[in-house]
Amino acid sequence: MKRRQFLKNTISTTIGTGIASSALANLSLSHPITNIDSKDIDARSNLEQEGLLNFVAIGDWGRNGADHQLQVAKQMGDWVTNHPNDFIVSTGDNFYPSGVISEHDPLWHYSFENVYTDFALQWDWYPILGNHDYKSDPDAQVRYTKISRRWKMPARYYSKTFNLKGKGKVLIAFIDTNPMIPEFYKNSEYGPHVAGQYPEKQLEWLDKLLSTQDPDIKWKIVVGHHPIYTVGPRTNNYDTLAVRKVLEEVLQKNKVDVYLSGHDHSLQHIKVENMHFHQFVSGSGSEATPVKAGLEITNFAASDYGFMYFAIDDKCISAKVINHQGIKLYDTTIHK
Ligand SMILES: [Fe+2]
Repeated sequence: MKRRQFLKNTISTTIGTGIASSALANLSLSHPITNIDSKDIDARSNLEQEGLLNFVAIGDWGRNGADHQLQVAKQMGDWVTNHPNDFIVSTGDNFYPSGVISEHDPLWHYSFENVYTDFALQWDWYPILGNHDYKSDPDAQVRYTKISRRWKMPARYYSKTFNLKGKGKVLIAFIDTNPMIPEFYKNSEYGPHVAGQYPEKQLEWLDKLLSTQDPDIKWKIVVGHHPIYTVGPRTNNYDTLAVRKVLEEVLQKNKVDVYLSGHDHSLQHIKVENMHFHQFVSGSGSEATPVKAGLEITNFAASDYGFMYFAIDDKCISAKVINHQGIKLYDTTIHK
């Protein structure tokens, strides 16, 4: 830059800043500035306070809008419009009947983008893989992370730490339960996609992650597709028992607070005596299947289409179940 041009720019910048500063000073004298944080002019900041961290959880949903998927999506959109929400968790079986074949599969539009259209659902989604997602290319769902702003699946399993606004942190492990089921390796549909996965490696990663001694971690949550306990049709299924066999000990040993799954198409809260963790099932983002009545481990179980809402602070986790008509079916609080 020539010297004359440089001097000209410097002078005009200085003059400009001077005018701006004096204008601001005059403004603050005539109208005292209360806050310059733009967040405070966001209409959502007026929403009633829930937790310090809030999220919705939906599972087993991708059916091109069919079988109540659209109704659940609409109610979930309404809920997060009217309640503070930081992100959305998907508990897997994101695309029926057989996953997606690539990150360009039209199902992304039919079953996801054109279904969860509410503005309040354009925030981050943290999905995991279900068994149906393993029938095509599970890694296509990882690759979609590079195409979508909101779809965040950096790997088949991953973790994230969320802040409780200065009052500690929440650790969430998003795991892949599919390779933990030995039968899958012999299955003609799942086999090619679990091949090369090492469940023992993932379990070692999970154990190390959850054994953290970080005093800031107030809550540990694990999200996996297959339930460890369920009162749906799969109470004693091979996959439920296979996942329980390898996961329960890791969760118990590391004092995990919540295990959140899908797979059975219902909404459940289960607490097994002597187990530290609470099992939630949110697996009816579209289809609903029956639940058994009268089992001792059941705190709540509904065969209904819907989703869950979790509000977390440093002392408690509140969990709500909302159905496809926007009716709150259940509300519970877990204390530290
Ligand atoms: Fe499933």
